Amino acid sequence: MPKPSVQFVCQNCGYESPKWMGRCPDCSEWATIVEEPVAPAPPAARPRTQPATAPEPLSSIDFTAEQRLSTGISELDRVLGGGLVPGSVVLIGGDPGIGKSTLLMQASGNLAGQGTGVLYVSGEESPRQIRMRSRRLGVDSDRVWVSPETNASALESLVETTGAGALVIDSIQTMSDPSSPSAPGTVSQVRAAAGQVAAVARSRGIPAFLVGHVTKDGSLAGPRVLEHMVDTVLYFEGDRDSAYRILRAVKNRFGATDEVGIFEMSGAGLVPVENPSAALLAERDEKEAGSVVCPVLEGTRPLLVEVQALAAPTHFPSPRRMASGVDFNRLLLVLAVLEKRAGLRLGQADVYANVTGGLRLSEPAADLALAIAVASSLKDRPVPAGAAVMGEIGLSGEVRGVAQAERRAREAARLGFTRLILSRRDARAVAPSAGVECVGVRTVAEAVRVALEGESR
Ligand code: TYD
Ligand code: MG
Repeated sequence: MPKPSVQFVCQNCGYESPKWMGRCPDCSEWATIVEEPVAPAPPAARPRTQPATAPEPLSSIDFTAEQRLSTGISELDRVLGGGLVPGSVVLIGGDPGIGKSTLLMQASGNLAGQGTGVLYVSGEESPRQIRMRSRRLGVDSDRVWVSPETNASALESLVETTGAGALVIDSIQTMSDPSSPSAPGTVSQVRAAAGQVAAVARSRGIPAFLVGHVTKDGSLAGPRVLEHMVDTVLYFEGDRDSAYRILRAVKNRFGATDEVGIFEMSGAGLVPVENPSAALLAERDEKEAGSVVCPVLEGTRPLLVEVQALAAPTHFPSPRRMASGVDFNRLLLVLAVLEKRAGLRLGQADVYANVTGGLRLSEPAADLALAIAVASSLKDRPVPAGAAVMGEIGLSGEVRGVAQAERRAREAARLGFTRLILSRRDARAVAPSAGVECVGVRTVAEAVRVALEGESR
């Protein structure tokens, strides 16, 4: 039987199949499978080749030489684990317009200012558009080289002629590798192009940034396979309508994952937010019912966020529930527990929950704050000023401890909070030196009484 000359490849996850299918069996995406030519099979008897470099004993490999390159942007350096590692490849994903190009142009300007030339390859925008952005950002260097190149195999010589010490590819989806037989824009092309960029970065020992587009569900478009090829994967998140942007490491060979950097988009680019808790609480009206402050952990950093809820009489046969910034199912769970274990009548109320600043909370530690916010709005009674709330809620209405309670308590104290409502266990664990009065509660019902009826314990 002759070998097939085409195969069908999922553009989302790279799954390969001999026949076309409407839905990828691997990642369950619809209409992502596209016909691509099969790469010619390698000859059966391969000639023996000499290795390019001889293997060396583990113990004699020098590891002290790891020199980090600062991007000049404190929050970016921190997410990278202390700066850029030469020869590493960093993938930055995010929605269009979130600020990926802005961040990388600012970093390029800083690197150039320190004497590291940057090759900025953009197949997305014309050099003029890039120049206009760089003007706005105050980047005006002759060490930043801009190229509209889309052929990945030309990168090596571009790096060579410009003498660049860092590489930015904006975006990897616009690059292609002519030696790959697939059509431009397919996942095989993107993978091949990324492979070429990584090869240039590693062989020359220079760091490379790749910009990657994300799909509507938030994963990197097509090349999820890209995540495996790079050293570090960063995601840029945030509400388009809010000025805050969060840069999150989801994979990092050279540092902690889950580390976050917080930026504010200003008229002159992205500005690191020095005191994010204060910034997030700046517009809070503490006299309003339905607003509760919760210390959450973003990466290793404690952060005070405002959780809001609005419970209003419903005009619908079945009441509405809406969650923004908190998980919808988590909200339903909290509402069910409030109804059953704290006696709140929520069956006749629409409930809307929100986290301000465009943040998305994934921690169960925000459960109790959400519950108190709902109760506060329903009873139309504000939580007293100076109080913050944290804790996970279990199905029987018990309030559970959170990770790193002490650090969260200190952050609350630092911002002037005087009272923290938390689980009994955490209340015992937090040292009196944290600087905040800790009120330990056992159940949600007790927490509601303490927070809203001023019951002292
Ligand atoms: P951009 O970096 O082009 O986003 P991405 O590359 O992720 O698609 O940023 C686009 C948005 O940022 C755009 O809506 C304009 C805004 N912006 C500012 O508010 N201030 C600035 O200084 C710059 C350069 C952009
Ligand atoms: Mg861009």
